[in-house]
Amino acid sequence: MRLLRLYGTMQKNEKGVLEIGEVGIDKLVDEFDTPLIVLDEKEIRNKIDEYKKGLSSYPGESKILYASKAFANRTLYRIFKEENISLDVVSGGELYTALKANFPAEEVFFHGNNKLASEIELALKNNIGGFIVDNFPEAKLLNDLADKYNKNVEVMIRLTPGIAAHTHDFMVTGKVDSKFGVGIKNGDAEKLVDLISNKYKNLKLKGIHAHIGSQIYQKEGFLKLIEIMVKFMADMKNENGITMTKLDLGGGLGIPHTEDDPVIPIKKYVKEMVEKVIKEVNNHNYPLPELLLEPGRSIIGTAGTTLYEIGMIKDIENIKKYITINGGMSDNIRPSLYGAEYEAFLANKMNAKPEEEVSIAGKCCETGDILIKDIKLPVSKRGDILAVTCTGAYTYALSNNYNGIPRPAIVLINEGEANLIVKRESYKDLIKNDVIPAGY
Ligand code: LLP
Repeated sequence: MRLLRLYGTMQKNEKGVLEIGEVGIDKLVDEFDTPLIVLDEKEIRNKIDEYKKGLSSYPGESKILYASKAFANRTLYRIFKEENISLDVVSGGELYTALKANFPAEEVFFHGNNKLASEIELALKNNIGGFIVDNFPEAKLLNDLADKYNKNVEVMIRLTPGIAAHTHDFMVTGKVDSKFGVGIKNGDAEKLVDLISNKYKNLKLKGIHAHIGSQIYQKEGFLKLIEIMVKFMADMKNENGITMTKLDLGGGLGIPHTEDDPVIPIKKYVKEMVEKVIKEVNNHNYPLPELLLEPGRSIIGTAGTTLYEIGMIKDIENIKKYITINGGMSDNIRPSLYGAEYEAFLANKMNAKPEEEVSIAGKCCETGDILIKDIKLPVSKRGDILAVTCTGAYTYALSNNYNGIPRPAIVLINEGEANLIVKRESYKDLIKNDVIPAGY
């Protein structure tokens, strides 16, 4: 039988009910209704702390850039500001959200492979910390706009290092075919370094960035990346006399979703990355660069738990039992989109023994809207509360209103206090952009 894995401050209280941050989920359901995403503040801060501890052995400067795409939210940004970490944003919308949280603009770094002129202008006007330039036309556009606004802009270049990292393995493919970044192998990276350093006067080349993938459990891909990146920096110094001072290794550390998945020791992995950077810069006799990491999922993922109410139960004799919930691919599209697996349990009946195999079906009119295939649960009843763990990253961020389903609410829990940080959408919200022209 599978063991139940609890994360962060989750525990079972004396009534056999799940508690998160010392708040029973029965109270949360009464007050906020379901579906509800519950975020455990302590768990988020602990993950940041693991990154900080991992980086603490680095003798140079370092920065943690939270990847906003995992979940962009103003209250979360307040926590990050307090924790003294920085942000990676990929759109005007994410930047706007950060600015509206009063996040220090100089600690925001702008990613993306098609930054719009309007987005770049918003970033320039607010004096953000820097841009990660993805391609040649972007470099030109950024330089032109920086010139127009009379700004000097710090940039890093996104490289395509030719590493394909997956959950369990990685490959050095040398492949330069990617919609992101410029290739090292085909000489584009060197050309862009030269252009930015010597032609684009409003751009100050500070360093290089790469992101090898997401939901990665193995550290080897990152270690290989460090070799490739430091070598590139050293080549640029030796061949072109250009010294870059920032090395940004992207994000990508994985989190467990099921009991079979490993729990990555963040601190240990980061420490090994730190050691590898030191070793490589020493090998190339290169000055120690500032080290940047861009975690998203591994900061916020395990802190999230989604609570659903169980609705219709359909038992197809000798075939399958479907348990339906009041959400699904509208609030968590990852199982349908990526085949992502999740773990769940009855949060109001944690003492009950799992005894039947069921599938958890969402309420969308799509055959593929199955949240979890074949999971063992206690005998469930309509009205029971199903908790799905590790839903903090890329769930709300990817949510939608398919089938006219309003997005769920989100509460942040800490030491017995629950605070609403995202309101539940209403039916009214669903038609707020819907316009009926005169005469109809
Ligand atoms: N930096 C860059 C440039 C990225 O593209 C990403 C993620 C990150 C950092 C953060 O990666 P993380 O630490 O969260 O793995 N929607 C997919 C994940 C897409 C990730 C895209 N880039 C999912 O739900 O699994």
